[in-house]
Amino acid sequence: MTKKRNIIVGQSGGPTSVINSSLAGVYKTAKERGFDKVYGMLHGIQGLLDEQYVDLSSQIHTDMELELLMRTPSAFLGSCRYKLPEIHDNPAVYEKIFMILDKLGIEAFIYIGGNDSMDTIKKLSDYAIIKGHNQKFLGVPKTIDNDLAQTDHTPGFGSAAKYIAASTKEVIRDALCLTYNKEMITIIEIMGRNAGWLTGATALSRTEECDGPDLIYLPELPFDIDKFLNNVKELLKKKHSIVIAVSEGIKLMDGRYVCELSGGTNYVDAFGHKQLQGTAAYLASFLSAEIGCKTRSIEFSTLQRCASHMASRVDINEAFMVGGAAVKAADEGDTGKMVVIDRVSDDPYMSAASTYDVHLIANNEKLVPRNWVNQEGNYITDDFINYIEPLIQGDCQPFMVNGLPQHLVLK
Ligand code: F6P
Repeated sequence: MTKKRNIIVGQSGGPTSVINSSLAGVYKTAKERGFDKVYGMLHGIQGLLDEQYVDLSSQIHTDMELELLMRTPSAFLGSCRYKLPEIHDNPAVYEKIFMILDKLGIEAFIYIGGNDSMDTIKKLSDYAIIKGHNQKFLGVPKTIDNDLAQTDHTPGFGSAAKYIAASTKEVIRDALCLTYNKEMITIIEIMGRNAGWLTGATALSRTEECDGPDLIYLPELPFDIDKFLNNVKELLKKKHSIVIAVSEGIKLMDGRYVCELSGGTNYVDAFGHKQLQGTAAYLASFLSAEIGCKTRSIEFSTLQRCASHMASRVDINEAFMVGGAAVKAADEGDTGKMVVIDRVSDDPYMSAASTYDVHLIANNEKLVPRNWVNQEGNYITDDFINYIEPLIQGDCQPFMVNGLPQHLVLK
């Protein structure tokens, strides 16, 4: 009798609107390559530790359901922000994980996540090598923040950028219409923690019929609030409606997050990341007090990572590709690696998947280079725009039922 070959996949960290396309890529490729069971961890490694998993064939029966999965936002299997202890601090956790993997006959462990999740792949692959376990551990990149090293970009970023650019365009139109003899300042807050990739994407809204945002502030540069106030005052001499994009993670010269000035929230996750929220609200009331005109703050918040009705076709396809590439790599004996996307050409845009040592990726943040931000630190350059533009191309229409997108949910 031939030995059963099983594989397990998990989703981890903040979700995206295309993370399930990677899951679909893992599932389809695992089946094509002759894996028997494809297990899904429920809520990532945290759920696995409680032996929470499903056999994915009980969830996906048809090609149509696989297509629906690809169009479903958020993590189908549930996610977690769980930091594995250092191996020497708590070997019992690792013994338990490998006991579960052995029990399920797992040959390959695939984890779809960002740089914190790659920390899990790094530790598990190290442990397997130290202890002589045969399982292969592969990471699949995912994060709207686009802050993973060694990959040209991350799945999830293109769709979030598309939603942000489209929504910024719509906000700019709205903000313009009520400014007859009246001033109005709109501040849009964008996710991305310490990386300004998504905030920069607001500049894509600058098109033939739209000016785009007037000012853009990324977290990579210290935020000078006096200079900011002067910039705004200068702009108000020329126009009545001003739209400003700020990253949730902009910091003052002294290192404090701007959102902390309003009190913010004190929540810190397992990786020590503070919940960032309230930057735009703080700046809107600051400007209202200083200038005395109407201001409005808008937080795209979770909308930017779950708006699958605005997903980019390029992004959905690449998310699927990297899921499949991880299975192929593990099946061919690779371990301790993350799949990366290589940009093959810009025009026409083409990309390919390869793998890279996860030790050089985990816990690193890839930031926007200084020369992709203008000298004054309040807008981005054309190089930055040219980099993002191909990633938002193409649509992937949801399956609409009774006027709304339909999703595949765990049964
Ligand atoms: O890591 C992705 C991300 O969306 C960040 O941009 C953001 O700061 C964070 O997650 C928000 O996380 P949560 O949903 O846990 O508050």
